[in-house]
Amino acid sequence: MSVITLNNQVQMPQLGFGTIMQFGNQVIDNVVFALNNGYKLIDTANRYGNEAEVGEGLKKSGLKREEYFLETKLGPTLYENDSAVDGTLERLGVDYIDLMILHHPVNNYIYAYKMLEKAYKEGKLRAIGISNFPVDKIQEILDGCEVVPAVMQVECHPYYPAEKVKAFCDEKGIKLQSWYPLGHGSADLINDPVFVSLAEKYGKNTVQIILRWHIQMGFGLVPGSKSPDHIRENAQIFDFCLGDDEMDLIASLNKHEPFYKVTPESLQRLAVTKCSFEE
Ligand SMILES: NC(=O)c1ccc[n+]([C@@H]2O[C@H](COP(=O)([O-])OP(=O)(O)OC[C@H]3O[C@@H](n4cnc5c(N)ncnc54)[C@H](OP(=O)(O)O)[C@@H]3O)[C@@H](O)[C@H]2O)c1
Repeated sequence: MSVITLNNQVQMPQLGFGTIMQFGNQVIDNVVFALNNGYKLIDTANRYGNEAEVGEGLKKSGLKREEYFLETKLGPTLYENDSAVDGTLERLGVDYIDLMILHHPVNNYIYAYKMLEKAYKEGKLRAIGISNFPVDKIQEILDGCEVVPAVMQVECHPYYPAEKVKAFCDEKGIKLQSWYPLGHGSADLINDPVFVSLAEKYGKNTVQIILRWHIQMGFGLVPGSKSPDHIRENAQIFDFCLGDDEMDLIASLNKHEPFYKVTPESLQRLAVTKCSFEE
């Protein structure tokens, strides 16, 4: 398993398992299965409404706390709630979280980031970061806060390699982690002829080629799946290597457009939508 060394020397597994839209026994079983089939990082969020079940899966996996890396995201409606980190620890049933990030650049994100900094200094969080922040708002965090974010989680895949934010984050020592690494399962992306031909060449499937591209780009990634077969095969990406010319060919697929479109309305929705445990 390859790891990324964060700017505070914490080691983050490069490949993680994403748990969005997975609930109840399904997410418990999938977390246990993932941790026993090649993943050491689990990604959840206050907003996913599954932190308690993710915590149950972590315990059921039989791994010791230091053997897995737990990542979650502070929900925007909790950005001024001083007990939000403690509540998250409680729901997950752990004493510390490896990486906690702000989910979206809405509401009072400077106050929220300072809450993460406080919890980081208290040892409740081993690393802190952000998600979905445009460059100007990352700069605002850098200007107004003390701890440089360790990770920025952003939509990223071969059709949208998040170049602008990547260039900025590279310069500031912030590691990029891809959400929607498979374009949310986009058939166009997964069946792109470039991946079909590389899959034939390497004896892999197209999804494994795409996931390998993230690895060689140096990105963290958190692919999601509800299928045990997919979960298992998505971790089998460390036994081959794409050539430089093949990475260049994949770079030519860039469509410069994310699948998820940020609009004033979507940001407004994200700002006010409560987490299920707040209802
Ligand atoms: N920070 C943020 O704002 C944010 C936003 C969105 C997501 N995320 C994170 O990113 C994670 C991934 O997002 P996502 O799950 O929406 O998108 P994704 O990982 O890009 O794609 C998941 C889709 O790909 C399919 N898939 C996975 N493996 C496959 C395989 N081997 N063959 C064929 N199809 C396959 C899945 O279907 P099956 O279930 O059938 O395998 C599912 O439909 C989330 O779980 C979450 O942790 C973060």
